[in-house]
Amino acid sequence: MRPVIMALDFENQQIVREFLAHFPATDRPMVKVGMELFYAAGPSILRTLRQDKLQIFLDLKLYDIPHTVERAMRQLGRQGVALVTVHAAGGAAMIAAARRGLDQGSREAGVAPAKLLAITQLTSTTEAQMQAEQLVNVDLPTSVQHLARLAQANGADGVIASALEDPVIHAATGPDFLCINPGIRLAADTTDDQQRVVTPAQAACLGSDGIVVGRSITQAADPVVAYHQVLAEWEAGK
Ligand code: C5P
Repeated sequence: MRPVIMALDFENQQIVREFLAHFPATDRPMVKVGMELFYAAGPSILRTLRQDKLQIFLDLKLYDIPHTVERAMRQLGRQGVALVTVHAAGGAAMIAAARRGLDQGSREAGVAPAKLLAITQLTSTTEAQMQAEQLVNVDLPTSVQHLARLAQANGADGVIASALEDPVIHAATGPDFLCINPGIRLAADTTDDQQRVVTPAQAACLGSDGIVVGRSITQAADPVVAYHQVLAEWEAGK
């Protein structure tokens, strides 16, 4: 698969429609619906995107007690999306509950089960911040690798991390465990609030299984040109 996933971080469905209208029918990127858009537009945004033949990464980053996560994931499993997320820090029982809920929901709805991805450390988090605020006393790649192993052991299909950590994750989990990477910037872009950023080509070289690109495309003067530039760099780096 190895997709370029476009993050639709917009405040309502109307803006999404206007944004996607720029793209020709031949461009069918996977799109990411995050908290902002989902909380504003609700599940109807998923139907709209499916009608447009777009595959969906529903990034709601669940983190709660296992029972609550299982029930919530059952609902997300019914939606026929390609990818969903939980925070690995929620622990073994919570990740396993997410898996169960997701599989139950997709069975009930008769749709293919979404792949379950676990957030390791957010790409906006630095090592110093992680150590000071989470009282984690190891370095950042070790923490990410540990959370990836935990996620794999409890039924996740992959993780979200910075591409900088993909080599240690794949070393710990094997080549089939997915590393999906946000924190992507074209060389000329600003980093905004992201800390652990890489270019699409660097991500591909590091073993990325898919990149998530938001502002480098959505805030570009010409988003279609920016998307194709990301795609070209990503393909060249593979
Ligand atoms: O605009 P930008 O390319 O920084 O957007 C990155 C997207 O990826 C955002 O939607 C953000 O929520 C998401 N993300 C992230 N870091 C993670 C997980 C998800 O930046 N660890």
